[in-house]
Amino acid sequence: MNSGGQQQFYAQLSSEQTHFGEQPLDSHQTIGEFTSDKPGMTTRHIDVSYGDVQAIFDVNLDLGEQEVLALIGPSGCGKSTFLRCLNRMNDTVAHCKVSGEISLHGTKISEIEAEELRARVGMVFQKPNPFPKSIYENIAYGPKIHGLAENKSDLDDIVEAALRKAGLWREVSSRLDVPATGLSGGQQQRLCIARAISISPEVILMDEPCSALDPIATSVIEELMSELKQNYTICMVTHSMQQAKRISDRTAYFHLGKLIEVNPTRQIFEQPVHPLTQGYLRGRFG
Ligand SMILES: Nc1ncnc2c1ncn2[C@@H]1O[C@H](COP(=O)(O)OP(=O)(O)OP(=O)(O)O)[C@@H](O)[C@H]1O
Ligand SMILES: [Mg+2]
Repeated sequence: MNSGGQQQFYAQLSSEQTHFGEQPLDSHQTIGEFTSDKPGMTTRHIDVSYGDVQAIFDVNLDLGEQEVLALIGPSGCGKSTFLRCLNRMNDTVAHCKVSGEISLHGTKISEIEAEELRARVGMVFQKPNPFPKSIYENIAYGPKIHGLAENKSDLDDIVEAALRKAGLWREVSSRLDVPATGLSGGQQQRLCIARAISISPEVILMDEPCSALDPIATSVIEELMSELKQNYTICMVTHSMQQAKRISDRTAYFHLGKLIEVNPTRQIFEQPVHPLTQGYLRGRFG
């Protein structure tokens, strides 16, 4: 929520309601279980600033293996900023400073080379961004530069396996040499997912992966995510509460840079605890 939205929200509350238990509503303490029994990634005390403006405040959150974690919250609350910390994409943003500790399967990501990290923690963006190359080359590029294929036949196998996992093989197997930019939006997004998984990442980050897609393409991607989570740690930003409900196992609610509440998805939607989470889920702001 922007600060105007927040003022409006507080104005709707009585003076007793501006406190949650002993805490003021805008306190730092996260409600719920931010740790995971099988963490793929752990983040502790994450602060992020752009120049003098702080965008993330002391966030602690684990991403569990074999789960889809949904990040929700009003526009500008820091969801993309947090996601970009996880594969150090914020390093490439001018004036962006990240502090705190982030680990990938127990290794601090600050100790992993950026290129290796981004192969192990893949990212899929809101707008599909295929390279202006053939379908085949889009998928083959990563495995080639990471030395995952010994010969052309290995590479062909990797390309086919990635396209199959992404549910795209049947649609494109007869035209692997055509430009990927000629595919439909939903196909391009699955191609980008295939590209991410072609280098066998451990974690897949998705920033509003379906917001540019129609309902049919969206349901294809959602089914795909449910299958992929058997093998990967998935963290997805979404503005669609229905989508978070359908496919995520846990949901984390962010508000003005703070992680307000995180719990199993059903619990968050059926019994949100914090008044800010309740307000957002009831459509009072956002
Ligand atoms: N490159 C940047 N430079 C300066 N400020 C930025 C930059 N990127 C994001 N911010 C600021 O950081 C805060 C969090 O932004 P972020 O994009 O992470 O929010 P978000 O929750 O992903 O929003 P949305 O739902 O609109 O995508 C906002 O106040 C935003 O203006
Ligand atoms: Mg965003």
